Amino acid sequence: MVGVYGNDFTAPDETAPRPATGDEPETFRALLEGEGRVEPRDDLPDAYRRTLVRQIAQHAHSEIIGMQPEGNWISRAPSLRRKAILMAKVQDEAGHGLYLYAAAETLGVDRADLLDQLHSGRQKYSSIFNYPTLTWADVGAIGWLVDGAAIVNQVPLCRCSYGPYARAMIRVCKEESFHQRQGFEILHTLSHGTPAQKAMAQDAVDRYWWPSLMMFGPPDDDSPNSAQSMAWGIKRFSNDDLRQRFVDMTVPQAEALGLTLPDPEIRWNDERGHYDFGEVDFTELFEVIKGNGPCNAERMAHRVRAHEDGAWVREAANAYADKQAARAGADVA
Ligand SMILES: [Fe+2]
Ligand SMILES: [Fe+2]
Repeated sequence: MVGVYGNDFTAPDETAPRPATGDEPETFRALLEGEGRVEPRDDLPDAYRRTLVRQIAQHAHSEIIGMQPEGNWISRAPSLRRKAILMAKVQDEAGHGLYLYAAAETLGVDRADLLDQLHSGRQKYSSIFNYPTLTWADVGAIGWLVDGAAIVNQVPLCRCSYGPYARAMIRVCKEESFHQRQGFEILHTLSHGTPAQKAMAQDAVDRYWWPSLMMFGPPDDDSPNSAQSMAWGIKRFSNDDLRQRFVDMTVPQAEALGLTLPDPEIRWNDERGHYDFGEVDFTELFEVIKGNGPCNAERMAHRVRAHEDGAWVREAANAYADKQAARAGADVA
């Protein structure tokens, strides 16, 4: 299981649905081989369906939990312009969650159940959102690095074999590239401001760099479900390939910002045609996935509270839908 907002929920101790091989409908095989899109009306193998539900749900959860670290700064953004941009960005993430829950529902699940699974800890979200946003510069670092990593993960998903997911990704990716640029611009402004502002920008990058690399998930050797996801056309590139792509894209951008990345091993490797970089501490990633990150408990408590506070909205919407349906029924009769 792989290839979402971050791939990092792919902890080895997780119980991903294991595909039964050899029971794939002929029509499904033919679609994959012809690089066609699989649609909800098609005959899907159950393991493919379950893998997608799990991936899309975790992706949706990441979008809405991801609103929290930045939402924390809306009231403290340094100018009206920054506040307006940040509000729009956080609202975009809510929208991404909605597209994705809708995409998951095409696979026959109910979003209320998916939210229950999030709230009870049975489904995960990207670990990156369990880190705190300590300063305004963190909003810049999240936009630049976290949304940047999300783009690298999500662009290949625009070609994912499952139609509703692939189509949702096209719009999401357009918005993510705006997010990435606004983060870059925040850091560029700080980096060219006072020495204290530059130091704040550097500190944010120092804290977010390694967790951003973890967003691509465990190393390929430790990512047991990748091969099946690749065979199904859900995943197109391995975790390590995507991580390398992100490093290659980001190093020159850090130079343009006038900031350094906290890894003395980063250097261009002429032979490989890529930047070399240091080893990621995956024990930290697995600790955060297990719930031991700095903000796991706070994020979940906030999410559950927001869900409970919103109960009246769901009740009102359902009452309205029932009334409309009753009226339509009366008209027909
Ligand atoms: Fe997003
Ligand atoms: Fe984003």
